[in-house]
Amino acid sequence: MIEFSKKTNLLSLHTNNSSYILQLYKGQHLLHLYWGKRIILTERSTYLPLEERVNMVNSDPADKSYHIEDLPFDYAFWGKGDFRSPSLSVRDGSGAIIPGFAYESHTISEGKKGIPGLPSTFAQEEDDAETLEICLTSSVTGLKLLLIYTVFPDFDVITRSVRIENHGENSVKLDRIMSVTVDFDPGEYELLTLPGAWGRERWIERQSVPHGVVSIGSSRGISSHQFNPFVALLSPGTGENSGEVYGFNLVYSGNFAAETEKNQDDRVRINMGINPFTFSWLLEPGESFNAPETVLVYSDKGLNGMSGIYHKFYRNRLSRSNFSSKERPVLVNNWEATYFFFDEKSLLDIASKSKDLGIELFVLDDGWFGGRNSDRTSLGDWVVNKEKLPDGIEGLSGKIRSMGMKFGLWFEPEMISPDSNLFRSHPDWALHLKDSPPAEGRNQLVLDLSRDEVVVEIIRVLKQILGTNAVDYVKWDMNRSLTDAYSSVLPFDRQGELYHRYVLGLYRIMDEITSAFPDILFEGCAAGGGRFDPGILHYMPQYWTSDNTDAVSRLKIQYGTSLVYPQIFMGSHVSAVPNHQLGRITGIDMRANVAMMGNLGYELDFNTLDSKELESVKQQIVFYKKYRNLIQFGRFYRLIDPFKSQNASWMIVREDKSEFILFYYQIFSEANLPRFSVKLTGIDEKSIYRETGSGDIYIGSELMYRGYFLPGFTADFQSVVVHFSKENST
Ligand code: DGJ
Repeated sequence: MIEFSKKTNLLSLHTNNSSYILQLYKGQHLLHLYWGKRIILTERSTYLPLEERVNMVNSDPADKSYHIEDLPFDYAFWGKGDFRSPSLSVRDGSGAIIPGFAYESHTISEGKKGIPGLPSTFAQEEDDAETLEICLTSSVTGLKLLLIYTVFPDFDVITRSVRIENHGENSVKLDRIMSVTVDFDPGEYELLTLPGAWGRERWIERQSVPHGVVSIGSSRGISSHQFNPFVALLSPGTGENSGEVYGFNLVYSGNFAAETEKNQDDRVRINMGINPFTFSWLLEPGESFNAPETVLVYSDKGLNGMSGIYHKFYRNRLSRSNFSSKERPVLVNNWEATYFFFDEKSLLDIASKSKDLGIELFVLDDGWFGGRNSDRTSLGDWVVNKEKLPDGIEGLSGKIRSMGMKFGLWFEPEMISPDSNLFRSHPDWALHLKDSPPAEGRNQLVLDLSRDEVVVEIIRVLKQILGTNAVDYVKWDMNRSLTDAYSSVLPFDRQGELYHRYVLGLYRIMDEITSAFPDILFEGCAAGGGRFDPGILHYMPQYWTSDNTDAVSRLKIQYGTSLVYPQIFMGSHVSAVPNHQLGRITGIDMRANVAMMGNLGYELDFNTLDSKELESVKQQIVFYKKYRNLIQFGRFYRLIDPFKSQNASWMIVREDKSEFILFYYQIFSEANLPRFSVKLTGIDEKSIYRETGSGDIYIGSELMYRGYFLPGFTADFQSVVVHFSKENST
């Protein structure tokens, strides 16, 4: 698992199927020697000797072949001849960048520790997880740098994080501290990212890695709709089921950066961590700073191989929520049914209709507090609006629970409306610059979570509401990016800490609230999927994937999201037509068949459906509940990519391959098309599978290599969802 050879100075980290190998070089450098399919190295294996090269800097003038620019690092420093973007930039009191840190020692221990103040993945006792801590020091300043690696052999995952400790006598200034650096061997690579926008989250983009730097990230204060904190490096031509994939996912919800840098020798460096553009940190003597964790996954089985590893690991080792391994309820949310315009009667009407249809959880969205009849007012005033709900939340929740449903409530705790009592009493609690009015987003301002009293007040209010009302579920929303990043309580030389302190404040609130209410199911949200990242998912085991509820748009959004995140994390709802975001009309079955690949919900006024549609909804819920365990916890495979074609398909297979569900979607139809098949994957080649309903039987190999023949489609937006179960083995 983790081995150290004194002879070769190799540190080898092995998962069941991969190896990640470091070498201590010249007694000081930490080199990245190998990452890929599991290998065994002999005692002769070591980094190739350097040669003298023209026009390169000699870090040691006595050794003309010693060019650190030539070396592959696992954490890199600037200032002595490596001109690529470094992992770390820290200035001492003179203002100079400290040029390097040298290996001092390492320890290998069992298990995995948490990261103070930050979310992270965790090890269970039954895991044989091991942690390597490598300590590097800087003689100049008394700084210690700890590079922390944990290996989860059975999950095929390695995590990395970094801590810097100031044991010196003077303060230093951190300008940049990446969570991970890997120098890949020279070669051709593709970079895969998940860019997007509101309503178009996590589309997939691939490009060849060019020379120079390609950088993605966020400076919006949240991980963002625009880029997910995930990148993968691929061998050229990698597909869903073949090719080498190296995934990097940052467990962080604020400003981040991920870069590739291809140098003169075609070596590619990846750096990922907190976005240095909006970051600096004053580290006083005796203090330490923790950089967030990155989850590293290698697969030689293409993108589906990588996703399978992330999904399983995140389902089991990311969120400690009581609900992580529980089936999630089918919910109804009133937002698109009523927006702000509801009263208790209309809500109870939705709830009772939902109950008749088989829905289990009623969620009251925005608009229940203060004078919140539009998005112009009342955020921060978390007091129930008695005109709408005369019996309060307690009354409504009691009535809904007595119908046999659970009750959920919406909050947006990080925000403040300029028109609110909270703002009138604490105008300085909103982020704002000294001499310029703050920019508004959705007519609202952002609370300064770097301030202790703000964090304490949010915790107090949430605890009070959740502690005195019967609430089974909370939707935690966040509807704007941060601007005016100045905090009236931070001194001049600490203003660069604001964004990270905001995230730390947020994590403190989420940690306290989710720990205080372990029996509440929490769902994250940020104007849809704007902060769908492992940081939030550590606290909340499901997330509202996108505000765009159109079935066709959702094919791309859910396909892209599934690259990294398991389907059980994805809140996906059936909504009204014409769709409220883009006006498209699709049938109730297409909408449900798209939504039921994830965490199924409904978000529409059932009074607008005719009796046939209502009967379809009933049947959809019966079907979903019957196969919910398989759908929510099974292994997900992407089959047909909606970014590349006019159709899409995926399937979910029970871990032991005893049953699976195939989902196929025809986006646009064409006249006179021949019948065609979709080729399945991940099932048992030799077993017989019976199609539920038709009773037809197939051998696994036929379904995989000849494919399952689809019905002819004579209209747009058609779909097929079929369940198969294993008969016996041949
Ligand atoms: C944005 C969310 O994504 C929606 O689902 C809804 O909760 C609104 N906010 C409410 O303001």
